[in-house]
Amino acid sequence: MPKPPPRIRILATGGTIAGAQTLGGRGYKAAAFSADALVAAVPRLDTLARLEVEQVAALASQDMDDATWLRLAARTQAAVASPGVAGVVVTHGTDTMEETAFFLNLVVRTRKPVVLVGAMRPATAISADGPMNLYNAIAVAADPAARARGVLVVANDEIHFAREVAKTNTTQVGTFRATHRGLAGLVNSGRLHLYGPPVRRHTHASVFAPLPRAVAARGLPRVDILHAHAGMGRDLIDAAVRAGARGLVIAGVGDGNLAAPALAACAEAARAGVAVVRSSRTGGGVVERNIEVDDDALGLVAADELNPAKARVLLQLGLTRTRDPRRLQQLFFAY
Ligand code: SIN
Repeated sequence: MPKPPPRIRILATGGTIAGAQTLGGRGYKAAAFSADALVAAVPRLDTLARLEVEQVAALASQDMDDATWLRLAARTQAAVASPGVAGVVVTHGTDTMEETAFFLNLVVRTRKPVVLVGAMRPATAISADGPMNLYNAIAVAADPAARARGVLVVANDEIHFAREVAKTNTTQVGTFRATHRGLAGLVNSGRLHLYGPPVRRHTHASVFAPLPRAVAARGLPRVDILHAHAGMGRDLIDAAVRAGARGLVIAGVGDGNLAAPALAACAEAARAGVAVVRSSRTGGGVVERNIEVDDDALGLVAADELNPAKARVLLQLGLTRTRDPRRLQQLFFAY
């Protein structure tokens, strides 16, 4: 008797992969199709895996929020805890996929593959990219070689590490890039070619995983991102602090720099106990400590390699454990 294919749980959240075009128009509505409909549209999936489908949310990923992250993390943790489940596939919009992938990479304790997948073209488009992306994602989740690599993102025949991947183009199917440490691998019609392994702590070695019940019940602390620019003032930083932000991520110019009035506001916020992380709006490179900004003196944290969106995720989780900028900095060097 041939061995039955592995069991894979699909957790659906919506996105363009489940999107339908509006009649006669160029527009479309994300999250229009159910996960069952997506799966039914892909031929030969039954040769790869026995699928269990669960609809966790049905939204366009610009509407992804902390509450949905916490629910998705709990459902992912429950899926990997099931002894018969070999891996998990999360269908998701591409807009915030890198944040959700990094969040799950930090809070789900597992060695099993957890793979996020989306599409740039809606399911009804000419040459929709969703079906092949979904086929490949299921192939990755079903392959034991993909274990213990942290959360992965599959799109356009590429496999990406959650920590490294970023959406870099508004419309093209090859939107996902990993500017620092490169691809996790390739997947061609379900056949894997894996590179790696990932360099930083994740999933089974993450201090945040599994997410404690108390954190899930309380919710994540508020962290705001502020985009630096020529002539930046302090008003929006002060407003964020007044609105209750417990952390700020600055998408700084260059090496995480910001204009003098804005820097003064950040230093004041840090003195008042708000965690301030300097990242970069450039899309690449490392934000180093104490280059043009005296982080030691001002009590600031450097984002290291994380882009602003991912720095926000790590800071939200870091703040569930400490407000000390030195301990927060160690997290940015470890994850
Ligand atoms: C979304 O992120 O939900 C919309 C865009 C996409 O999925 O490509």
